[in-house]
Amino acid sequence: DWNAGNVIAEQVARIRHQIGTGRVICGLSGGVDSAVAAALVHEAVGDQLTCVFVDHGLLRQDERRQVEEDYVKATGVRLITIDAEKQFLDALAGVTDPETKRKIIGREFIRTFEQAQADLVAETAADGDPVRFLVQGTLYPDVVESGGGSGTANIKSHHNVGGLPEDLQFELVEPLRALFKDEVREIGRQLGLPEVIVARQPFPGPGLGIRIIGSVDKERLEILRHADAIARAELTLAGLDNSIWQCPVVLLADVRSVGVQGDGRTYGHPIVLRPVSSEDAMTADWTRLPYDVLAKISNRITNEVKDVNRVVLDVTSKPPGTIEWE
Ligand code: XMP
Repeated sequence: DWNAGNVIAEQVARIRHQIGTGRVICGLSGGVDSAVAAALVHEAVGDQLTCVFVDHGLLRQDERRQVEEDYVKATGVRLITIDAEKQFLDALAGVTDPETKRKIIGREFIRTFEQAQADLVAETAADGDPVRFLVQGTLYPDVVESGGGSGTANIKSHHNVGGLPEDLQFELVEPLRALFKDEVREIGRQLGLPEVIVARQPFPGPGLGIRIIGSVDKERLEILRHADAIARAELTLAGLDNSIWQCPVVLLADVRSVGVQGDGRTYGHPIVLRPVSSEDAMTADWTRLPYDVLAKISNRITNEVKDVNRVVLDVTSKPPGTIEWE
């Protein structure tokens, strides 16, 4: 019988054995896997662990606070946040091609994380015990997938925290390698992590950067962040979080349409809602959300979000559509 408590005890013992008195670093993404992996390592070796969180400016509303405050409060981990918004937005300026955006974000991410890593190694080397271990939130399905060696076409270049180059001077610590996602969530709960993190739906590494169709800038990000926050809040309020896989909210930044508001004509952007149901994200169907929930989301977004005058619903399954628009 599977038991979270036993798995935690077993992993804590293993991690202690592997790391000994060494120092260890972990990148947090705000997602479930890195959060639980770090919490397990912290449980095992306490302040020998330092976590690094890169704020690339493409996060959703409240995500940074949830990591910096809620997660840190629940775990007591030592956290360094890197403010990299300007660097990412400068690198993305004027870029519209989806794959180019993904590559830029992935590249900047690796640069930023490696710099933080190097700084920490240097700092800890000064006291004679440099960081030598790197935590990764690899799950069992990731292990199977990457070991499969099947020749599947690369449809989108994926980017994940810790998707680092091979020239590792670090030894990997991967406490979730034998686990499935629902088991990871259970362990997170047992370790007292906040529900907003443990129950989080999938969110792509490149963040809101690939949910703006067109080039990415601060103003567009603010529009999308606001619309996304409204959609998420209403879905949660309607009790639908567990019946959808995820619901990307997409800004068609280069499209405008005519509308009317109050006494005046508007010429604003459409927001796309992309609610999907899925088992594993390989295939998906569009979720038949209740009309009253859609109406509420639409009313609130068009009333509250600057420059948005239309909300549209994506009714495409995967395939042929992908879940994300880019
Ligand atoms: P697509 O758009 O390919 O997405 O149908 C499948 C699932 O993967 C998520 N996704 C990503 N996750 N890094 C991630 O960690 C990425 O670069 C990335 N791109 C897409 C997407 O949200 C969906 O759950």
